[in-house]
Amino acid sequence: MNTQIIFIIGVSGVGKSTIGELLAKDLHIPFFDGDDYHPESNIKKMSTGEALNDTDRFVWLKRLNKLAVKQLNAKSSCIIVCSALKKAYRDILNNGIEHQSVWVFLQGSFNQIKERLDNRKGHFMSSELLKSQFDILEEPKDAIHINVKLSPKNIVDILKNKLAPKSEFGLFGLGVMGKSLSRNLANNGFKLSLFNRHVDGVEEHVALNFKNQFKELSSALHFDTIASFVNSIETPRKIMLMVNAGKIIDSVIEDLLPHLSEGDILIDGGNSNYKKTKERVDYLKSKGINFIGTGVSGGEKGALKGPSIMPGGSKETYQKVQPFLEKIAAKDKNNLPCCTYIGPEGSGHFVKMVHNGIEYAEMQLLADVYVLLKRLGNNPDQIADILESWQQTSNSYLLEITIDILRKKEGNDWLIHKIMDKAGNKGTGNWTTIATSELGVPSTMIASSLFARYTSFFKDERITASENFKDDKVLPIKITDKDISKAYQFARIINHYQGFKLIKEASNSYKWSLNLSELARIWTNGCIIRSELMATLVSVFKNTDNLLQDYRFIEELNLLKPFAMNVVSEGILNELAIPTLSESISFFNSFTKAESSANIIQAQRDYFGAHTYQRKDDSLGKFYHTNWKD
Ligand code: 6PG
Repeated sequence: MNTQIIFIIGVSGVGKSTIGELLAKDLHIPFFDGDDYHPESNIKKMSTGEALNDTDRFVWLKRLNKLAVKQLNAKSSCIIVCSALKKAYRDILNNGIEHQSVWVFLQGSFNQIKERLDNRKGHFMSSELLKSQFDILEEPKDAIHINVKLSPKNIVDILKNKLAPKSEFGLFGLGVMGKSLSRNLANNGFKLSLFNRHVDGVEEHVALNFKNQFKELSSALHFDTIASFVNSIETPRKIMLMVNAGKIIDSVIEDLLPHLSEGDILIDGGNSNYKKTKERVDYLKSKGINFIGTGVSGGEKGALKGPSIMPGGSKETYQKVQPFLEKIAAKDKNNLPCCTYIGPEGSGHFVKMVHNGIEYAEMQLLADVYVLLKRLGNNPDQIADILESWQQTSNSYLLEITIDILRKKEGNDWLIHKIMDKAGNKGTGNWTTIATSELGVPSTMIASSLFARYTSFFKDERITASENFKDDKVLPIKITDKDISKAYQFARIINHYQGFKLIKEASNSYKWSLNLSELARIWTNGCIIRSELMATLVSVFKNTDNLLQDYRFIEELNLLKPFAMNVVSEGILNELAIPTLSESISFFNSFTKAESSANIIQAQRDYFGAHTYQRKDDSLGKFYHTNWKD
C-alpha cells in the first residue's frame, strides 16, 4: 500500500481511539492518539477545567501535522485520531500531505453519542459540552463517513476494504489477448487489477503467475475471486472482459453483476456478435451498468504493442474509458490513436465483424494469387520474391506475413507444403455474410472467401472428386506475374468497396451515423487489414462514401480491369481454384452494367407467383402483372 496518513475524526465519545487502535493493529501500522500531543500549556489549562481556545488548538494541531509529515517522509503509514471538528483545524492537519491523507469521519446523532458516553465507566461529559461539540462540528465532505451504530469489527472491515489500494482498470480473463492487453495497459502506467477464474487442477493462480512473469505488472493486483477483484477497482469501475465470445459473456456478466455499483462500465473486447452486444447494452442499462462493445484487432502482438480499437456504446460511457483505450491503441501516421468512438449499440462489434470479413477476402485473394503463381512454376521462395516486389504497389500487413510464411522452411522443404489445406474459422466471416445478406448488400467477395474456407474443409470428398474429374491435359497459361499483380490490385479495391458499402448501409439502416474516413484511419495501423490502400481510403472517404465514384479509383479500375479479366479467364481455363479473384470480376461485370438480367427474374417471379414487376417505360414506378399464357 502507498504511504497513507489516516485521520479518524469525530466528536468525543464516537469511539475514535477504539476504532483507530483496532484498525492500526489489523493494518500493522502505528497508532497515534492526538490527545497525547497537547503542549504542556494546554494540558494545564484542561486540567483546571478551562476550555481551549483556537490559538491553543492551532499549536496542538501543528504538532500533529508535524507528526504526520514525519511519518510520510519515513514512508510509514499511520493512524492519527483527533476530534478535528472544524474545517480550519483539518486544514492545518492536512497541510503538505493533502495527496496522501485519508479522512474517516465517525458519525452519530447527539442522543446516540450521549448514551454511549453515559454508559462508559469513568467518563463524564456534560450534555452542554457534547452539544457545544456538535455546534461547532463542520462535517467533512471528502471523508469516509461511517455510522458508529455498526460494531467496531464491522467498521474496521469496512475501512480496510475502503482503504485497500484501488486500481484504475480491471482485466477479466487472461487468455492470449487478455494478457497482451494487460501488459500494454501496465506499460502505459495504468494501475491494474487482473482476474482469471480458478479451476482446480486446470487454471490455478493464473493471475498471480502471470503478474510474476512480467516486471511491468509488479504493482498490478491479482485475483481469482470475483468479489475481491471488483472491490479492488475504483468506482466507477472500468472492467474489460477478455473472454470467449458467446454465452460465456452472459454468464460472466451475471457473475459480476451482484458486485458492481451503479455507473460501473463493462467493456467486451472479444469478437462478439453485434446484435448480442445491443441486447447486452440494453439489459445492463436496466441494471444501471454501462456497456461498451469494442472490436480489438491486431492479434497477440497488436494487443501488446498497440491494437486498433473500435468501441461502440453510449458516447458518454466511451468518454470515461477513452483515456485508457486511446493510450494503448496503435498510432496512425499523424500519431493519433487508432481508436475512435464508433457509434451506439453494437456498432463497434459490427465494424470489427466487417473488418474480419474484409480480412477473410484479403487472405483468400493472397491464397488465389499463390495458386496462380505456383501454376506459373514458382516455388514458395520465388513466390515470396514476387510478392515482395508487389510491396511497391500493394503493401499490406497480410502481404508481409504471407511473404514470411512462404519463406519458412522445415528441413529441406517449405513448411507451407506440410500444412493441412483445411481452413478454420471462428465465426465472424459467417456473421458478416449473414449481415450482408440480411441487409441486402452484395458483399460477395466476403461470402466467396468464407465459402472457400468451407469448401476446403471437405478434404476427403475433394480427394474423391479430384479422382473422378481428373483432367491431365495441361494448357499453357498465358499470363505473367505482372498480370496477376494487377488482377490482385483490382480485386482488393472491389473487396474494400464491398466491405465499406456494407458498413455504410448498416449505418443507414441502424441510424448509427458511422464515419467511414475515421474508420479507415483507425485501420491504418494496429489491425490485420492495415495497408497502403487503407491509408488512401482515409482521404477518399472524406469526399465520398462510395469509392466506385471516386475519380482515382475509376481511373485505376479501368486500367486494371483487362488484367483481372484475363487472369481470371486463364485461371478458369486451367481449372484453378481462384474463387475470390473470380468473384471480384464477376461482381464488377454485374455492377457496372446499366442493363442487368434482373428483368428475366422479375418476369419469372410474376409468371409463377404474380409478384408483379415495374416497367422501364413507366416513370411512376407502378407495379404490373401479366397473364403470361394469354
Ligand atoms: C484481428 C483478427 C482476430 C482473429 C480473427 C480470426 O483483427 O485481430 O481478426 O480477431 O484473428 O478472429 O478469425 P477466424 O478464426 O475466423 O479466421
